[in-house]
Amino acid sequence: KQPSYILALETSCDETSAAVIKNGREVLSSVISSQIETHKAFGGVVPEVASRKHVEKITLILEQAIQEAGISLNDLSAIAVTEGPGLVGALLVGVVAAKTLAMALDKPLIGTHHIAGHIYANRLVQEIEYPAMALVVSGGHTELVYMKAEGQFQVIGRTRDDAVGEAYDKVARAIGFPYPGGPHVDRLAIEADEVVELPRSWLEPDSYDFSFSGLKSAVLNVVNQSKMRGETVNAAAIARGFQESVVEVLVEKAIRAMKEYGARQLLLCGGVAANKGLRTALTARCEQENVSLLIPPLTYCTDNAAMIGAAAYLKWERGQFTPLDMKAEPSMSL
Ligand code: KG4
Ligand code: ZN
Repeated sequence: KQPSYILALETSCDETSAAVIKNGREVLSSVISSQIETHKAFGGVVPEVASRKHVEKITLILEQAIQEAGISLNDLSAIAVTEGPGLVGALLVGVVAAKTLAMALDKPLIGTHHIAGHIYANRLVQEIEYPAMALVVSGGHTELVYMKAEGQFQVIGRTRDDAVGEAYDKVARAIGFPYPGGPHVDRLAIEADEVVELPRSWLEPDSYDFSFSGLKSAVLNVVNQSKMRGETVNAAAIARGFQESVVEVLVEKAIRAMKEYGARQLLLCGGVAANKGLRTALTARCEQENVSLLIPPLTYCTDNAAMIGAAAYLKWERGQFTPLDMKAEPSMSL
């Protein structure tokens, strides 16, 4: 059997990334160019700026990925790209580049869902056991996805307001940290020896949905009250209270969903999977409940093209190619 080489592109938000994946699992190259420094000045991702940066970088990143993989363009089996969801202008840059390559090289095109990519990042580590439950936590998404079998996605819970990473970034800003603030809040929470108790947002007893905007407002209230009283804001205690609330709700809902759906494996993924508090709590709880937990290495948790290649491979195996008139789908569903 001939080896397969998939070139994957990811430009849905603020990372321009290209990767070459051999036989669905082996990462021959993974190039990620982050725009974080550019967006920091604005306190968050500016869509128009993101699109322009992708245009500047895409050709370079793509060439680097091919070169580092040590293959030639003609060796490629398919070109994969994130089709959605994401920022439309940002997505378009990857989509147009992928279509152009597919057309010029006469190779199949594979449009991929960004969240399927985050979930299948776990396949770069080991084979997934089904039925599985995925907890997707990133700057744009917070979802519980039940997977009865490979390629089958059932979203059983989602955020009703802010995504968890977005809440982290807003809280970080309120206590004085730059974008993206998630890692700062995480570090502070772990170092803190005091805690500000904050509410848990459970929603209806049987709901797998999430809500983080109330918690975020509670943080802002605490910060504003301290300021009004002329006291210094206890950032560490607030970070710890916030993180404890978020982690408790995420862990409890994920475990309850695992039990109800009889899932054999829990897949943690997305940028917030880098959170130490969440990883520690989830690892401990899964051991206690005797369920298997997969977490991708940190580089494949945040946005990257290797995960898109891993997801695209499963479509490639089944010959599920995407027509060349593919469009960017900013609000694509799983
Ligand atoms: O998956 P990702 O790179 O981009 C999206 O698809 O959204 O996730 C980025 C998000 C940001 O909100 C960032 O603050 C958050 O992940 N993040 C963290 C940590 N590391 C990254 N949040 C909490 N704790 C962390 N250690
Ligand atoms: Zn993402």
